Formats: sequence, structure tokens, C-alpha cells
Amino acid sequence: MTAFNESCKPILRVNNLSIQYDNINGPIKVIRDLSFSLKKKEVLGIVGESGSGKTTLVVSLLGMLPPGGQVVDGDIIFKDRSIANLSKAEKRSYRGKSIAMIFQEPGSTLNPVRRIGAQFIETLCCHFPITKTEARERAIDMLSKMSLPNPDMVINYFPFQLSGGMKQRVAIAMAMALEPDILIADEPTSALDVTVQAQIIEEMQKLSDKFSTSIILITHNMGVVAHMADRIGVMYTGQMVELGAKHEIINKPKHPYTRSLLTSVPIINNSKNKKLFSIKGQPPDFLHLPIGCTFAPRCNLADRTCNSKPPFPVELTADYTVFCHKVETSRKVYREAAAI
Ligand SMILES: Nc1ncnc2c1ncn2[C@@H]1O[C@H](COP(=O)(O)OP(=O)(O)OP(=O)(O)O)[C@@H](O)[C@H]1O
Ligand SMILES: [Mg+2]
Repeated sequence: MTAFNESCKPILRVNNLSIQYDNINGPIKVIRDLSFSLKKKEVLGIVGESGSGKTTLVVSLLGMLPPGGQVVDGDIIFKDRSIANLSKAEKRSYRGKSIAMIFQEPGSTLNPVRRIGAQFIETLCCHFPITKTEARERAIDMLSKMSLPNPDMVINYFPFQLSGGMKQRVAIAMAMALEPDILIADEPTSALDVTVQAQIIEEMQKLSDKFSTSIILITHNMGVVAHMADRIGVMYTGQMVELGAKHEIINKPKHPYTRSLLTSVPIINNSKNKKLFSIKGQPPDFLHLPIGCTFAPRCNLADRTCNSKPPFPVELTADYTVFCHKVETSRKVYREAAAI
């Protein structure tokens, strides 16, 4: 975990971002009016059920939405410049050196018909003024930090000669070797053994400490988020329904969805053999979102307001936002009581 300095300026700002995909049944808006910022050296953990829009959000930060996907509203500002205004050459350096990404599918990063070493060396030589020999040494060093056995042999392999977990470690090594300003990691450790997971997380933390790298970490593993993140953003149906400091979100979550998500985490030492909690129902599909709060059909606290009006963001502090009518109501009651 990094020392999170409240006073430092955001390196990345996402303002009222909306993203739409063309779909056979019509366009679907899968990121809906979403805003957040990321400070230098900060680790932002993003959690949320499958299909909530986590990957779409982070891929858009790279300016790499797939065909059929487009930003229809809002802006992404990196170091005071909108990424929409970057030239082609600026975009090339932005992707990799400014923002590097470890993709959910490691296979999508690696070229299947080129040896690992050739890909790694080319990437390093593109972004740093170094010789091929220096790049090779750096690549081997990075691969060994990712706990890959025999990195000097791995460098001569083709991707198909590696297991899924090994490919993932190569992809992580390549992204981290670029020493980017921001490292985006989309489920980086899901294909790995827990012992290797811990080593890779430690390497990511070292990278952040050494180069003041900010990290956006997407994971379904609450333990990893609780260990690494400074802040946590909870996504549901394309919105960050709760965003705040990690200790607040873990210890005193305000949104009923966050509370349910945290209650769903299995406990290893479940001595009372308690039944595992699961959130009732399914997230709604983007073509038929409820008119009120999109979590209302699954929420035990939902009332008429929740079912009829979308919630506005309630800013509890400058760094803590929740989209929930119930939080808004309790704040109003508290303010009125304080005024008496
Ligand atoms: N290329 C695409 N074309 C059309 N729709 C897409 C495309 N990619 C994603 N979607 C849709 O966008 C929504 C969000 O998907 P996304 O992959 O961003 O979710 P996610 O939170 O990353 O899920 P997971 O946890 O399973 O990785 C889903 O409804 C998905 O079906
Ligand atoms: Mg995803």
C-alpha cells in the first residue's frame, strides 16, 4: 500500500464519461455518466459483478475501445490534456509509457507467432533509448521478478509454449518494465497460484514506490483490494455507485450493493458452517435498466423513491461519493437534527 497524499494533484481525471456499444438490439450505454480521479502513486481498486463495465472503463482510458464501442459523452484528462486531442504519435507514447495495461486475457497482449524475447525487446526499444542487449537483460530481469523459472529460456519461447499463468506473468512483466505513470491491471492475478499472486502484488507495489506509479486494479478478489488499494470504486450497471477510502468502504460501506458484495466474500475459517451469502437476483441488462436506482430490484431497503427516481451522487467528502437515496435521506435527517 502506498502513502496516499491527499494534497497531490490528480494525474488522471474522468469527467461524466458515457460509453456506448452498438448491439444487434440497438445501442447500449454501458458506462453511464461516470466520474473519478486518480492521484500520483495512488492505488485505486475497482470491484463489481461481472458485466458491470469495469473492462470497458479501463480500456477507454487507453483510447482502445473495441469496434462498435465509442465515448458518447464526457472526457478523459491525462496530465491536464484530453486524450481525445492527442495526435497519432502522442497516442503511441501515451499507450505504454504513460498508461500501460495488463489485460484480462493475457493471450490478447502477446503476438502468437513471435518469440517472447523479440516482443519484449521491441517494446522496450520503442520506449527507451537502449540497445537490444540492454533490453534483453532488462527483460530477463523483469521475467525473473515475476517468478518465471528459467527466464533466459522463456525469452526464446513462443507464447503457445507457455501455460496461461506463465503468459500472464510475461504480460505483467512487459507492462511493468515500461515504468508507466499509470498501470492498469484487469484481473492480473486470477490465473495464478496464490503464492505467485502474492509475489506479483509485491512487485506491483515496489514499482509504485520506485517510480511513483499510480495503479488501477480490477479484481474480484476482495483480499487483494483490501491489501493494496488506497481507494475503492464499486461498479454496478456502468456507474461507480460508491467511491471512497479503502478503510471506509471495507469497514463502513454505505451503499447496500457494497454491503452485499462484502457479505458475499467467503470466509476460510467458517467454523459455524454458515451458508454462503449471495445477492438475490441478477444485475439488470443494459437494454432494460430500471427507471429508478438500478440496484433497487435487488435491494432490501428499496422504497418508492428508489424505484422511481435515479439517485444523484451524494458527496460525503471531497473523496467519498455514494449513489443512494437512503444515504441522501439519512444525511438530510442528520442535517435537520443538527440544525434544531
Ligand atoms: N465489444 C463489445 N461489444 C458489445 N458489447 C460489449 C462489448 N464488450 C463488452 N460489452 C458489454 O458491455 C457490458 C460491460 O462489459 P465489461 O466487459 O466491461 O464488464 P466487466 O465488468 O469487465 O465484466 P467481467 O467482470 O466479466 O470482466 C456487458 O454488458 C457486455 O456485454
Ligand atoms: Mg472485465
